[in-house]
Amino acid sequence: MSKGRIIGAPTADVEADLAITPLFSERLIAWQKVSGRHELPWQKTRDPYRVWLSEIMLQQTQVATVIPYYQRFLDRFPDVTTLAAAPIEAVIEHWAGLGYYARARNLHRCAQQIATVHAGKFPNSTEQLVELAGIGRSTAAAIAAFAFGQRAAILDGNVKRVLCRQYGVEGFPGISAVDRSLWQLAENLLPAGDIEAYTQGLMDLGATLCTRSRPRCDACPVSADCVAFREQRQAELPASRPRPAVPERSATFVLILHGRRLLLERRPPSGIWGGLLVPPEGEPKQVLANLGLYIASERSLPLLKHTFTHFRLTLQPVLCEVTTSEAVAEAGWIWLDQDDASEAVVPKPIRKLIKKDASAMG
Ligand code: ADE
Repeated sequence: MSKGRIIGAPTADVEADLAITPLFSERLIAWQKVSGRHELPWQKTRDPYRVWLSEIMLQQTQVATVIPYYQRFLDRFPDVTTLAAAPIEAVIEHWAGLGYYARARNLHRCAQQIATVHAGKFPNSTEQLVELAGIGRSTAAAIAAFAFGQRAAILDGNVKRVLCRQYGVEGFPGISAVDRSLWQLAENLLPAGDIEAYTQGLMDLGATLCTRSRPRCDACPVSADCVAFREQRQAELPASRPRPAVPERSATFVLILHGRRLLLERRPPSGIWGGLLVPPEGEPKQVLANLGLYIASERSLPLLKHTFTHFRLTLQPVLCEVTTSEAVAEAGWIWLDQDDASEAVVPKPIRKLIKKDASAMG
């Protein structure tokens, strides 16, 4: 069977180019039923609220990390109405540690949209689901398939890897022409039935065998027709992002300590670390002067690097002990005990910093 090569090929040609047969979906479904995952907590239900919650948590987080969060979240917010009525702070608290907090804010917004626009009932079509906050095309399809048995195509990062390898799709999947081709391919591959096993099979294959490094092609149910396997190009497919220089930024964070208490500021809701607690940023003397605080001692701590999606940040933490904490009484400023600060809703790199330097500070 000949397999085509596409670099953002016109979508109409994809099916002909790639000689799609039902074999891929048939083999995947048969494999999923025998060797796929069946015991994940969100697989035991068709409740769209639970399916939705799991899909949002799993967007950027591994299964093993998600499981305890998923269970705690459901204990506190057992249904979409409870979630919609809860304060955002409670939602963020139950998200703390999972990262990518925009997901938590969208989750809350989405619950409110369902409560108000859809009378508390999840819509069952991908077209309506994709209109809701935080639900993209692939997540909408996963919810439609798992909760409502709808024939809809998913295409998350793992699935892109599977398809790029299986069909020898060239080009970085982040390029829109390649992305369009992959969506077309994903649609064309959909089986007539067994959509849940097929969708789960794609996820399971991507997560357990067709991994980014060291894929287990020996155990793969579709390796017989896999372009990457045949040509031993698993490491090259999918193609990596063409490398633009990542902008570098640096910032000084002032860890203001009074006794065992650390001064933190709540960030505005949008922008990086929106709504989280962080130490004030800026030149230490200026920051302290603005707050009406007096320095007893000042010490630079080791640099810390953190990579965001669009830039790399080098953090320079400066530890300043102050003589009094009385001057700071403005809204948005919080004195927290060091031990509580490392557990509070603080961004991950800052939390690491507080934890690491708790001994140096204390
Ligand atoms: N990743 C995204 N959705 C998933 C699901 N339902 N099960 C396992 N991993 C996933």
